[in-house]
Amino acid sequence: MSEEDRYAFIAEWYDPNAAIQRQYQLNYYTKDGSVEMYDIKNHRVFLRRTKYDEIHKEDLFVGNKMNVFSRHLHLIDYADQYTSRKVGSKKEKTLALIKPDAVTKMGSIIEAILDSGFVISKAKMMLLSRTEAMDFYNEHHSKSFFSDLVSFMTSGPIVAMEVVGDEAVSSWRKLLGPTNSSIARSELPQSIRARFGTDGTKNAAHGSDSISSAARELEFFFPSSGGRAPKNTAKFTDCTCCIIKPHAVSEGLTGKILNAILDAGFEISAMQMFSIERANAEEFYEIYKGVVAEFSDMIVELCSGPCIALEIRNAEAPKRFRDFCGPADPEIARHLRPRTLRARFGKNKIKNAVHCTDLPEDAILEVQYFFKILDS
Ligand code: RTP
Ligand code: MG
Repeated sequence: MSEEDRYAFIAEWYDPNAAIQRQYQLNYYTKDGSVEMYDIKNHRVFLRRTKYDEIHKEDLFVGNKMNVFSRHLHLIDYADQYTSRKVGSKKEKTLALIKPDAVTKMGSIIEAILDSGFVISKAKMMLLSRTEAMDFYNEHHSKSFFSDLVSFMTSGPIVAMEVVGDEAVSSWRKLLGPTNSSIARSELPQSIRARFGTDGTKNAAHGSDSISSAARELEFFFPSSGGRAPKNTAKFTDCTCCIIKPHAVSEGLTGKILNAILDAGFEISAMQMFSIERANAEEFYEIYKGVVAEFSDMIVELCSGPCIALEIRNAEAPKRFRDFCGPADPEIARHLRPRTLRARFGKNKIKNAVHCTDLPEDAILEVQYFFKILDS
């Protein structure tokens, strides 16, 4: 076998039974999409080479978290120079912001991001204070458009995302198109600003302009430690909780699901990506323990990769939204309620695309669990 066919990573997995981090070498063979795992400490094969369709080449980069046969792995390093050269050198992170004028179009913008081969590794809807907006756009403080820009950026929620991909800084700016949306429409009609922006200020989205500004801007919205991030937008009234499950996120369905929810007339008043630990999943799903046969599979699914929590607002939120999600089993949903979210995006009873609050009295508690407790 030539080295050329294989990507090799160092991966960590938290073993809850032994309460320790285990380290593996994870090998991925591009030709047949198979994986194998080698236990580094115990010097033994942990998983014999096996075909595994749920890994996509785009997900393989240091820093990413992924699910391999129900183990939630964190890729912490490249295991050889070939992989590091081939995968590592071109991968960049950048900040993508959906600006206030385009937040209602976030489904389509996220679809465009994913269709271009980027991975979204962090996401949070936020409301900037004036101070935060002035701080963020500090480089423009002496420009004539500065005060309009600050008013615009604080006029409503924005969605901040960490986007990862090959040369992400420049490719995302290319996908954005020219700063002025009217110019974008004549020069690059397929670009984000042409499709979703209005004018020279209201231009739908932002992208960092260099690797160093990307690092600084990502730190601003997603501080690594100690720092305070801008606040999430959850309102905790007239709402219900929806979770886009990890399988749907990793299948690239986020944009389509958000679009379906918005098209059905619901307001998405908060959104955030979370990587859930097992203990938190058990706590969140506690009411299903001993009641639902699939309880432990539900936990495994919820911890298997990043999920996206939403606060959905509507006058009749919990009930109407629950109807819109459809029967828990997508097979049944496809027969009885083919327009529902589970019918359209679910695979089976566990991977059924979304969780939604069951009992109206739990709705606010579930929203609080994500947007008050986990986001802190
Ligand atoms: P961004 O920073 O938001 O990604 O945009 P950019 O690099 O393409 O443009 P930049 O020159 O950094 O300007 C920042 C934002 O200020 C607003 N602007 N308004 N009315 C005007 O003349 C004007 N010029 C710039 C836009 O929202 C622009 O994205
Ligand atoms: Mg700029």
